[in-house]
Amino acid sequence: MEDFKQALAKKAEEAEESLEMRFDRKFDAPDIIVSAMRYSLFAGGKRLRPVLMRETMRALGDDPEKIRSLADAIEMIHTYSLIHDDLPAMDDDDTRRGKPTNHIVYGEDTAVLAGDALLNLAMETALSGIPDQDPKNYIRAAQILFASSGVDGMIGGQTADTITDIADITEEKLNYIDEHKTGALLRASVLCAAVAAGAEEREIKALDTYAQSLGLAFQIVDDILDVEGDEKTLGKPVGSDEKNHKATYVSLFGIASSEERVQELKLNALGALGRIDGDTSFLEDLAEYVCDRDR
Ligand code: IPE
Ligand code: IPE
Ligand code: MG
Ligand code: MG
Ligand code: MG
Repeated sequence: MEDFKQALAKKAEEAEESLEMRFDRKFDAPDIIVSAMRYSLFAGGKRLRPVLMRETMRALGDDPEKIRSLADAIEMIHTYSLIHDDLPAMDDDDTRRGKPTNHIVYGEDTAVLAGDALLNLAMETALSGIPDQDPKNYIRAAQILFASSGVDGMIGGQTADTITDIADITEEKLNYIDEHKTGALLRASVLCAAVAAGAEEREIKALDTYAQSLGLAFQIVDDILDVEGDEKTLGKPVGSDEKNHKATYVSLFGIASSEERVQELKLNALGALGRIDGDTSFLEDLAEYVCDRDR
């Protein structure tokens, strides 16, 4: 696992460097908004989504450079979702990625705008990567990215998370929330690469199963860490869900059942990778890491 963590850190650096390049220009805007965008984007996230996208491409034997713009875009979208998730109107949290949250530093007005600006920069970035030759698969991949982050995906999940009363929660409702607010972007990370690489339907299906299991496991672990994690290691508050009376896997089933569910999902994810022809060792290790992580 230590070796894998080092390999992951290197891949995260690759994602980080690419994102840096998107900011290597002058913006036609007051300094504060660019500063607020940079503040959250370069605060030290794990970069799992762009890493997952590039590594899926590599597992399929294709060049990750082809989806570099989509990988940058998905991390911008993810970061915007976190800025908004932390706002007083939503989870009202004060730390993120080991630093005070965006609205604590820049104010709610600028934090809302910084999130909006990251979403728009994501669209601009994604469109800038359309290849001149055979753009069809890339455009389909971009469509998946924006559908997954919108009302049919992350936004739908965040809405359900916000309006669902803990007293009315059912397993079905909880699965909808988790699969959408978190699962959708992780699933998109894998699907965008599979579609852009022109993978066969059989491989796309297997990768989709992997990604869906991984996505759900990821959120259940997030819920467990919200109870049992170490605030310093996590870089965000522990106990946020309880404070906000959130329905989570842990609140519905308890820690032990949640941990069992994570292990089941992990096995499901690993099983699906067995149906892919390429070298899936990094994706396997990533599933192990996601299910056993402490941050
Ligand atoms: C946190 O995502 C929010 C969820 C979707 C559960 P990550 O745990 O990937 O956060 P960063 O990007 O590493 O900060
Ligand atoms: C939020 O889930 C997922 C998104 C931001 C889309 P959480 O509210 O559980 O995420 P954390 O725990 O604040 O990172
Ligand atoms: Mg939330
Ligand atoms: Mg939150
Ligand atoms: Mg959480």
